[in-house]
Amino acid sequence: MKVLVIGGGGREHALAWKLAQSPKVQAVFVAPGNGGTAQDSRLGNIAITDVKALREWAQAEKIALTVVGPEQPLAAGVVDEFRAHGMRIFGPTRAAAQLESSKAFSKAFMKRHHIPTADYEAFTDAAAAHAYVDARGAPIVVKADGLAAGKGVVVAMTAQEAHEAIDFMLLDNKLGVTHNAGGARVVIEEFLAGEEASFIVMCDGKNVTALATSQDHKRLLDGDEGPNTGGMGAYSPAPVVTPEIHARAMREIILPTIKGMESAGIPFTGFLYAGLMIDAQGRVKTLEFNCRMGDPETQPIMMRLKSDLFDVMLAATSGSLDQIDLEWDRRTALGIVMAAHGYPMNPRKGDVISGLPKETDSTMVFHAGTAGKDGAIIASGGRVLCVTALADSVKGAQQKAYEVANSIHFDGAQYRKDIGYRAIR
Ligand code: AMP
Ligand code: GLY
Repeated sequence: MKVLVIGGGGREHALAWKLAQSPKVQAVFVAPGNGGTAQDSRLGNIAITDVKALREWAQAEKIALTVVGPEQPLAAGVVDEFRAHGMRIFGPTRAAAQLESSKAFSKAFMKRHHIPTADYEAFTDAAAAHAYVDARGAPIVVKADGLAAGKGVVVAMTAQEAHEAIDFMLLDNKLGVTHNAGGARVVIEEFLAGEEASFIVMCDGKNVTALATSQDHKRLLDGDEGPNTGGMGAYSPAPVVTPEIHARAMREIILPTIKGMESAGIPFTGFLYAGLMIDAQGRVKTLEFNCRMGDPETQPIMMRLKSDLFDVMLAATSGSLDQIDLEWDRRTALGIVMAAHGYPMNPRKGDVISGLPKETDSTMVFHAGTAGKDGAIIASGGRVLCVTALADSVKGAQQKAYEVANSIHFDGAQYRKDIGYRAIR
């Protein structure tokens, strides 16, 4: 069987790497892929990103299964396009992907279905948004409606910052947010305190299977300081997600979401990622939904998955996820993101990477923003690599991953030195 993975980041490298391990899979193509997927003899890159062109290519190649990594092709309707031509694809339709692509849609959905989340209001009018901030005070959170590649959220500790964020998002749109129908809109919501976790499940429209738990480090610098990024490192399992929290997240967030989508006539298929905020009392609120797996959470999660991912995907695309029992390595996997000089604002391209090690039973370097050039691998994007290791403890996985990361070099490389610290108590 031939498989296609859409995307080109570390998440897609990890999904493709895992799918290629299935004895039923003869080839895995990654569109567009990166320098790491190009190098792996089991994988092949395809330089197509347009949704219709991808579907035509997949049909001609007799691709048996397509898995979608990032949010943009989902919001562009790639699942609708493939399904309309009878092709098997795992991901949500464009309508279902609104859970991520529109904050206004997902907040209204959560309110309607009594799914715990921060109180909020949505605004298109800047004067009304400013008045709301004045009435509520800080801290307060301002979010751009529409996809913004992780840059559309300002956690304002002062009212001044919130006012600036509103003007920035509603009047200037310097973020390059993809606006939804009706133009620029912001969601302003209550500030939530607590610890974050990534709660990711697979859905086939009706049945739900939770993946192993994970936690990400969103800030650029050690101690969770500095600007927000796409994620600087992650590990699985996440001890903060106790069995009680797990049960609560399933009962209060995931199941009502799947039921709510089904009853709205837009059944959810694909990965559903709830960003959780867990407070000191063990209450759980939804920060956001993503309609895809997390990056870098996918990298450690795939390192721990023992089941055949191709079989799992077949079940997930034929409404039989209830037949699947996912098997996990009991060890901890931890991934460290190595980012380019200037990330996240202005990542530099072209730095040559040296010291890349071979894969072992317990270590793997997943590529993200890399490309091949004159026989070398160079940095070609913000997050460049995710160095991932498996070991019996978080500390062991951390040590092993840092040993590998420290042996890799490129000019200007930035990586945190404390990935996993919340899980080491
Ligand atoms: P989002 O894209 O909505 O997940 O927001 C990105 C990040 O901003 C989250 O991972 C949180 O760290 C932070 N954040 C978002 N919403 C809130 C909130 N209501 N209270 C506190 N922090 C938040
Ligand atoms: N690592 C956070 C995300 O994928 O949204």
